[in-house]
Amino acid sequence: MNVSGTDLLLWVAFPYICLAVFAVGHVWRYRHDQFGWTSHTSQLLEHRWLRWGSPLFHLGAFMVIAGHVVGLAVPASWTEGAGISEHAYHTTAVWAGSVAGAVMVTGLGMLSARRLLARRIRLGTDRSDKLLFPLLSATVLLGIAATTAHNVFGDGYDYRSTVSVWFRGLFTLQPEPEAITGAPLLFQLHALTACLLFATWPFTRLVHVWSMPIGYLVRPYLVYRSRSTASPRPGRRTLRPHGRADATGFTASDRS
Ligand code: HEM
Ligand code: HEM
Repeated sequence: MNVSGTDLLLWVAFPYICLAVFAVGHVWRYRHDQFGWTSHTSQLLEHRWLRWGSPLFHLGAFMVIAGHVVGLAVPASWTEGAGISEHAYHTTAVWAGSVAGAVMVTGLGMLSARRLLARRIRLGTDRSDKLLFPLLSATVLLGIAATTAHNVFGDGYDYRSTVSVWFRGLFTLQPEPEAITGAPLLFQLHALTACLLFATWPFTRLVHVWSMPIGYLVRPYLVYRSRSTASPRPGRRTLRPHGRADATGFTASDRS
């Protein structure tokens, strides 16, 4: 199949530029902003929306990532070799993918609403968030739109013989732009916004993904003794964390 200059630009040059920015950007960020390398949690400013929005979003994200690893990185011949028929794969992928997408977009909707509606969060939203949230939302919504239009309601689109082949070609250094040029527009737009997301990744709070212990997502939030709890000295009000506090007033677990 003939590949035009535009195709080469979109499906070879652009992804490689994004991946290069991803790699070099992380080195730059690490060297220049190690102290800013965090999720910038805003739990202390607002926690009612975050309490549901964050776990839902993260749970959905982990399911979507797992689905992408299987759908993009593992060739169809391998799953067939393992005894999983194309039909079984497709049915599971559509069901699991739909649930994962729904959970992720619900969480992301809550996190975005919180960022727009809660005044304190809006004021703490910086330029990198203004880039990250729309890009993340566009990628997630286009992914869901592609799945819904072609695989939930449509005739079923076999992206494993097109989009996945293009994706793997980038990493084996044998680019196959022709594999994706005929894919439906929603899949193409989804892949392009995902590339852009990877290029902006190191300059946003997404760097926390590489340094956060998984336990952070399920650990209890810091709990402070309520004012009504009896304080060590009658008549004196303290706000000390639970546990044996040292001279600074913090417990060992607060520092972990
Ligand atoms: C290694 C696993 C991960 C851990 C432990 C983790 C943990 C966290 C924590 C603690 C926060 C701060 C909000 C809060 O206090 O709940 C946060 C925020 C966030 N995380 Fe993660 N995360 C992980 C992976 C991811 C992934 C894979 C993505 C996206 C692809 C992601 C996207 C975000 C975003 C967008 C926020 C900002 C939410 C907001 O403040 O509006 N995280 N993460
Ligand atoms: C170049 C990288 C990527 C490629 C080639 C890609 C490809 C795909 C494909 C082929 C589907 C359709 C799955 C189906 O119909 O069952 C899909 C769905 C989806 N993608 Fe991606 N994707 C990429 C990156 C991302 C990223 C970075 C995110 C989010 C941060 C994302 C979020 C989603 C979501 C939410 C869905 C719908 C739910 C699902 O089927 O899992 N994708 N993607």
